[in-house]
This record gives sequence, C-alpha cells and structure tokens, in this order.
Amino acid sequence: MSKCRSVTSLLVAGLFAACLEQSTDAAEHSFTYPTTYDSGRPIAIEREQELRTTIPPDGFGLPEGQGTFTEGRAIYASKCQACHGDALQGTAVGTALVGGRGSLSSDSPKKTIESFWPYATSVFSYIRNTMPTIAPGSLTDEESYALMAFILASANIISTDEVMHKDTLAKVRMPNRDGFVPDDTLDIEVPMAGD
Ligand code: HEC
Repeated sequence: MSKCRSVTSLLVAGLFAACLEQSTDAAEHSFTYPTTYDSGRPIAIEREQELRTTIPPDGFGLPEGQGTFTEGRAIYASKCQACHGDALQGTAVGTALVGGRGSLSSDSPKKTIESFWPYATSVFSYIRNTMPTIAPGSLTDEESYALMAFILASANIISTDEVMHKDTLAKVRMPNRDGFVPDDTLDIEVPMAGD
C-alpha cells in the first residue's frame, strides 16, 4: 500500500500549505488543519516554499487561468507523450495515466489517474509541481489546467468540451473518490533526525 501512503502524504502536504496560507480567506476555507501532533509537538514544515504551492482536495488556493482539451492535447504531445504514450497508456519510462478503473481491488490492479486518484485538484497540484520529470515546476498554470482538461477527458471523467479552471476543476468527481479509508497512522509521531 505504499502508493496509497504517497498520495496520503501529498494530501497532507496540502494540509500544511493551508496552514501556511492563513489569511482572511482562510476563515472561509472549509478545512481546518492541525499545526501540532496530539502530543503537542509542532508539525515540522519542510520545504516550505514548495508546500505553499500544494493544492488541497477542495481546491483552496487554485490559481486563475483556464485550459481546454484541445490546448492540453498539444501540450501533452510536446511535453508528456514521450514518457506517457500517445494514448496515455504508459511506456517503459512513464506510467499509464488512463484505464484500470475499478481494478485496484482485483487480482491485476492498474494504478492510473482514472483508477486511483480521489481528487482532480491533487492531480493538478502534482502535475504542476513535478511534471515533466525533466523540468519540474516549468508548467504554467494555464498549461496545467489544459493538461487536466485533456487527461480527464481522455479518461472519460469529463467531456472534451469542458473548460478547466479553478471552479470546474474543484467540482470534478473522480471515479475512486470513495475508495480511500481514514489512515490513523497519521497520528503516530515519527522521530525526526536530530531527536
Ligand atoms: C521523462 C519522462 C516523463 C515526462 C516527460 C513526463 N512524465 Fe509524468 N511521470 C513520469 C514518471 C516516471 C512517473 C511516475 C513517478 C512516480 O511514480 O514517482 C510519472 C507520473 C505522472 C503522473 C502520476 C501518475 C499516477 O497515476 O500516479 C501524472 C499525472 C503525470 N506523470 C503527468 C505528466 C504530464 C501531464 C506530463 C507532461 C507535462 C508528464 N507527466 C511528463 C515520467 C514522465
């Protein structure tokens, strides 16, 4: 289940980001996040700058801008296809992004955007911060929205004429939204270097 953990970490990273962005907006934000463990010890915030750009599940902090399927298809062809395949099916160097819906509890699970990720906002955050692997952080907000429009429509999660922006993206319902259970290991305090 290490893959599940890694996404859990991603969501928690979003949680830290919201803590950092305390502002008047935060009062209206639907999430309230802890700043300490149950023991009272403060939650360490590492790579602060990077975490600020992490988007939590409800889309808090999503940037302005928008993107379409057609724009996303062109960006995908030049920046993603070499690793993820012309039909998003994956290659030897990049994972499949579509397919495998409902397969995770079967004997041949296939982890993709379509089968695994519970929130489109998390995928946006992941792509914008980490892809392409050879130039992480190089995608603009507009490119990231366009890629989401292309990937989500290719996975039959939205239609090809839906424009992705901060409001529409946050409303996308991912196929595996209900496939996660609460992970109480988050309450365990992990010893940090220097303890
Ligand atoms: C040089 C190869 C390479 C390029 C180019 C690349 N990726 Fe990736 N991508 C990867 C690899 C490898 C992984 C798996 C990373 C991991 O599991 O830690 C990945 C993972 C992903 C995932 C997560 C898949 C999942 O189910 O967890 C998404 C989404 C993604 N890439 C989107 C993109 C997009 C969009 C682009 C273009 C902007 C892109 N990638 C360009 C290699 C690449």
